[in-house]
Amino acid sequence: MDLNSYLKKNHRLVDGFLKSYISSTRRNNSCPKTLHRSMGYSLMAGGKRLRPIFAIAGHEAVGGRAGNIIPIAASLELIHTYSLIHDDLPAMDDDDLRRNMPTNHKVFGEATAILAGDALLTDAFSIVSNANAKPDALLNIIRELTYACGPHGMVGGQTADILLEGKKAKKSELLYIHTHKTGALIRASVRIGAILGVASQKELNALSKYGENVGLAFQIVDDILDITGTDEELGKSAGADILRGKNTYPSVFGMETSKEEAKILIEKALDAIGDLNSKADPLREIAKYILRRRN
Ligand code: IPE
Ligand code: IPE
Ligand code: MG
Ligand code: MG
Ligand code: MG
Repeated sequence: MDLNSYLKKNHRLVDGFLKSYISSTRRNNSCPKTLHRSMGYSLMAGGKRLRPIFAIAGHEAVGGRAGNIIPIAASLELIHTYSLIHDDLPAMDDDDLRRNMPTNHKVFGEATAILAGDALLTDAFSIVSNANAKPDALLNIIRELTYACGPHGMVGGQTADILLEGKKAKKSELLYIHTHKTGALIRASVRIGAILGVASQKELNALSKYGENVGLAFQIVDDILDITGTDEELGKSAGADILRGKNTYPSVFGMETSKEEAKILIEKALDAIGDLNSKADPLREIAKYILRRRN
């Protein structure tokens, strides 16, 4: 399969939904103009749309059709974008550049940036609750999302990331940070696709394992790129982790071991879905792409 055209096609489908979501927010006069502009600024700034694409590919792997999961897949991008806006705030990573543009708080101020993040997170659940699917599937998806984003997932990981800044994390603490701040939402994205596609328990287990391994590998590669990449390639300030005293895979394990670990995790992810048929090929190709990505 041609991964590039697969990514492009699904990126376009997701962006189509996000565009209409943002226009509908503007049409509804009850949303303040500045808030709407701030939400749209970060949401439409670009980005790889990988979490929605993981959900689509997970859905297809169990026999689903991309067209049936677009709103739910797009809701993952609202959550992810909220997490980036808050991650960049002065109280957190204090970054100036995101998706090749000044960070949200640099343009709209901190208060609006915080509120735009809040609004995107909240609306993600509105989109899911209005999606065209069986109520019990939607309820399961909401349960997945809340667990992955909340104190037992992303917010837990972000908290540990911040609290351990400037201190030397134990290996187990670093693993906690990475599997929670980033791994949890990626794992949930794949699982949500499978749940909507009424996967068997065996398929769901395989896809969960895939998501877990790919999710951790994704953050290890993010850490590596922070050292090896440039601002232009990444669309964000390279070298920021060392400056802030972040605990990263390269800082704790060294560069070579980190690269090796990412490779092993991707092999494990591929192994986990070894029994699935060719409908899981997009997931296979995305996993390999994560190792060679440059942004
Ligand atoms: C960046 O995520 C933040 C992490 C969780 C590592 P992405 O690398 O997916 O960022 P975008 O969405 O493409 O901008
Ligand atoms: C971000 O991790 C994780 C979340 C946003 C939840 P990073 O802080 O490493 O992400 P970047 O490098 O700023 O994109
Ligand atoms: Mg961070
Ligand atoms: Mg950051
Ligand atoms: Mg990073």
